[in-house]
Amino acid sequence: MSNEALGPPPTTGPLDNPLRTGLRLGRTPEPCTMVIFGASGDLTSRKLVPALYNLARERRLPAGFSVLGFARRAWDDNAFREVLHAAVTANSRSGPAEPDLWASFAEGIFYHRASFDEPAGYTTLGARLAAIDSERDTGGNRVFYLATPPEAYAEIVAQLGAHGLNRSSNGGWTRIIIEKPFGHDLESARALNRQVLAVFDEQQVYRIDHYLGKETVQNLLVFRFANGIFEPVWNRRYVDHVQLTVAESIGVEDRGGYYDRAGALRDMIQNHLTQLLTLTAMEPPVAYDPDAVRDEKVKVLRAIRPISPAEALTATVRGQYGPGSISGHPVGGYRAERAVASTSQTETYVALRLFIENWRWAGVPFYLRSGKALPRRVSEIAVQFRSAPTMLFADTPVNAIEPNVLAIKIQPDEGISLTFGSKVPGQAQIRPVSMDFRYGTSFGVASPEAYERLLLDCMLGDGTLFTRRDEVEASWALLTPILQGWAAAEPLPFPNYEAGTWGPAAADAFMARDGRAWRRL
Ligand code: BG6
Repeated sequence: MSNEALGPPPTTGPLDNPLRTGLRLGRTPEPCTMVIFGASGDLTSRKLVPALYNLARERRLPAGFSVLGFARRAWDDNAFREVLHAAVTANSRSGPAEPDLWASFAEGIFYHRASFDEPAGYTTLGARLAAIDSERDTGGNRVFYLATPPEAYAEIVAQLGAHGLNRSSNGGWTRIIIEKPFGHDLESARALNRQVLAVFDEQQVYRIDHYLGKETVQNLLVFRFANGIFEPVWNRRYVDHVQLTVAESIGVEDRGGYYDRAGALRDMIQNHLTQLLTLTAMEPPVAYDPDAVRDEKVKVLRAIRPISPAEALTATVRGQYGPGSISGHPVGGYRAERAVASTSQTETYVALRLFIENWRWAGVPFYLRSGKALPRRVSEIAVQFRSAPTMLFADTPVNAIEPNVLAIKIQPDEGISLTFGSKVPGQAQIRPVSMDFRYGTSFGVASPEAYERLLLDCMLGDGTLFTRRDEVEASWALLTPILQGWAAAEPLPFPNYEAGTWGPAAADAFMARDGRAWRRL
């Protein structure tokens, strides 16, 4: 067939790009009730209810939207409303609750006192939901939110199934949001998936990773696939390596009990950094819809060269912070944190190198690092390009001409900057300069909290920004051998970095062995 027979090449316009189905902003969900298991917990007060309140404030919630808190605490509706009022006042990005708005929001807040493992509590839950449906016209639409310790997930799911609450009786929809951690290794993640999918269909399940709700993370897809100039250089021909960093200056705060069993690999790499990696490396999806996007992310995970338990010690670096100081304040060591073992071998810092063995990325290392008690809170994705092929300016008096770096700043100071070499005026010198885009300057509006977007998407039935079953299992399949390799190895001489420094010396040596260095942030 000749080219003419095929007709002219397709034009590329807004209707032809992979995001053609839109970013789905501005829609309002159908009325529904959100049942929060673990309603007396920290997540409910710090994130969930402030996010819901801000959605209400921006008129993004449907009329009749209701919250039903489920917990053991001896509260009633009014006591729960007061707790949530204080929580919004303390934690909302828009400041203290506004009296009129709060009054109408609070009319839809209810409390159900019950234990997760008592069947009777689920029978009465069904009755309360039916009553809310008829009082507030919520049409039998429900979101169950598991904000409990993960040990309770399987029990709650089984009870919901046993009481027929996995399907709405009067024609509405039922969805379930599951907080992280989703399993603690491959086997437990698979077991949890089996338990959940014995009761709910995959389309009903929303495994949350709040990094996907961050504006800067969503913008990765827009940046890559709504602009023509970056994609041609986004591959092994032009990219030398990629560094993904999520650095935190906080320690483990009051979460020592959870953290000491988790560690940085499970707490940050398995979920948040893996998400950043897949969005950076994935191929353009055929559509902006939940399965097309997630298919491409899973393909990246499947293409990563596995790290065996035996390779775990050379392909990764672990650290644990000791006493030090951050921003001039003295900080105790990790082992002195509450609920942390005094001989703990848990890593609070981890760095690793991955290779994605596909046509786009073969041979390009992706370095991931995340740690607590580091000097600054800063997260970014830095794509470092290969140097120019010939050094025309090799005699210019600089140590080395720095390679071009495209840095996508996830937080804080959200933005994107491109660094390149420029001639210093009036001098025979080259110095790196940058072109900067800053959200604050360009848009002048505060970004919504990640949970706002994600809660809304779930109510809209859009799972694009949630983790699918195969995705979570692929990520655990990659990391579980590393955990096994560590567990079998000799204990490390922890602590091995001072709080307020950029991690263990071994992390620098790890990069130096590849002839590279971590970016100074
Ligand atoms: C959570 C981890 O998932 O993410 C915490 O459990 C971590 O340990 C937090 O502090 C970081 O989130 P953010 O949005 O502050 O970067």
